[in-house]
Amino acid sequence: MSAVPAVINVDVPGPVINRHLYGHFAEHLGRCVYGGFYVGEDSDLPNEGGLRLDVVDALRALNIPNLRWPGGCFADEYHWMDGVGPKERRPIMVNTHWGNVEENNHFGTHEFMALCELLGAEPYISGNVGSGTVREMSDWVEYLTREGDSPMVRLRKENGREEPWRVRFWGLGNEAWGCGGHMSAAQYAAEARKFGTYCRDHGDNQLYRIAAGANSFDYAWTETLMKQLGELGCAYRPAPFMQALSVHYYTLTGTWQDKGQATDFGTDDHYRTMVQAARVDELLTGHSNVMDCYDPGRNVGLVLDEWGTWWNVEPGTNPGFLYQQNTLRDALVAGLHFDVFHRHADRLVMANIAQTVNVLQAMILTDPESGALVLTPTYHVFEMNKGHQDAASLRVDLPSGLPSREVGEDRLATVSLSASRKDGRILVSLSNLDADEAADVDLDLRGGSVTDVRARILTADRLQDHNTPEAPATVAPRPHDQVTATASGLRVHLPARSFVTVEGSLDGR
Ligand code: AHR
Repeated sequence: MSAVPAVINVDVPGPVINRHLYGHFAEHLGRCVYGGFYVGEDSDLPNEGGLRLDVVDALRALNIPNLRWPGGCFADEYHWMDGVGPKERRPIMVNTHWGNVEENNHFGTHEFMALCELLGAEPYISGNVGSGTVREMSDWVEYLTREGDSPMVRLRKENGREEPWRVRFWGLGNEAWGCGGHMSAAQYAAEARKFGTYCRDHGDNQLYRIAAGANSFDYAWTETLMKQLGELGCAYRPAPFMQALSVHYYTLTGTWQDKGQATDFGTDDHYRTMVQAARVDELLTGHSNVMDCYDPGRNVGLVLDEWGTWWNVEPGTNPGFLYQQNTLRDALVAGLHFDVFHRHADRLVMANIAQTVNVLQAMILTDPESGALVLTPTYHVFEMNKGHQDAASLRVDLPSGLPSREVGEDRLATVSLSASRKDGRILVSLSNLDADEAADVDLDLRGGSVTDVRARILTADRLQDHNTPEAPATVAPRPHDQVTATASGLRVHLPARSFVTVEGSLDGR
């Protein structure tokens, strides 16, 4: 096996990898909030104000930078006033999007803010543009962030919170092209102008307003928003009511009716999944190119605020709850996405995995009966990669390309990697997507040498392997000793179907 050469100029730092690329998403959907994050104050499970503490502790280890809430589709039917004040007086609503279940509003604004404080994460609130009013959203901003005296400040104080919170990130609706109101891009742009205008900066809480963006490859949507939410002149100026726009992209290989099983799949399904995951590069390039035409100075941020795998629900579970298992294949999807994100660090300012607990490509699964908590393979990729947060990306040049294989009409590069440096240390992440073949990568580190090298690996006997309460560490990281020094850097051995991180101290040459 010949090694893949990869040249990294460690003394030429690229754009900083925004920590918010490692963001999360929690929707009122299935058992993400209720039964996941929030078990209620009467639960036997250790909790603080109803927030499950072992879930919080596990997530703190990921350095979660931000948490998006309350949806998703749910955001556009959520009325925040129903979720503040004494719990016994909060009205019950119906969650029409997700299983038609009754929502008692016991997890509302104060509970969400308490969760963010426990996690050490910044809140990212998705406002209701679809069925809400401009006033409602404007009041929510005032309730959360204003100091002094005002109707909303008084209400917040009555509800037990004296000081304002700091909430920078506000989503102006969600999927306005679909569940968020079935609008055209032009209609939505007009709505976003209004909602964005009346979401005010109170005091020094400067809002970062994120317009609801395109469905996957719909570049026309992005173009309309760029035109209508900015001011065209000699130089493009983003309007004061929009600082970023979003896009959603799920890795989905089947049809919406039959998306394929999370654990019962073949090698061909695995490769098709990797092809779909790798297309996130094309997607981000496409949207960035459109944005560059209007905003070459890159003042408007691109936010991928929903991404991840979407499989059929686990047999016997509520189809509206989107509960799926998570295998080594999902971990490789995550590793691949992060490599792409790092390469787009100059435009991509935030990304949010869908979703953090018990829904879609989750970090944590909890058992509804026993309460047992399981960390998924995807969790471990987030943990192993957390050193990239706020690090300077390092360009990786591949003089001989990457090994690849044909997948239907597509060609899949079976090795993926990215690198960054921070505080005198380098972190390189490498994935071998091949189901059966190992690969070696020669890291040619120019402009510095590396000492104190430590490597970890996430792999398993089978791509389908996953963690359960009975076998929680089937797919878990362990030290990797197959990294050797070479004249110009390091040779990293990547067993088939593996994700590896290599880190070390940099000494300038
Ligand atoms: O994450 C699940 C759903 O997927 C979200 O509610 C919606 O925005 C998207 O279609």
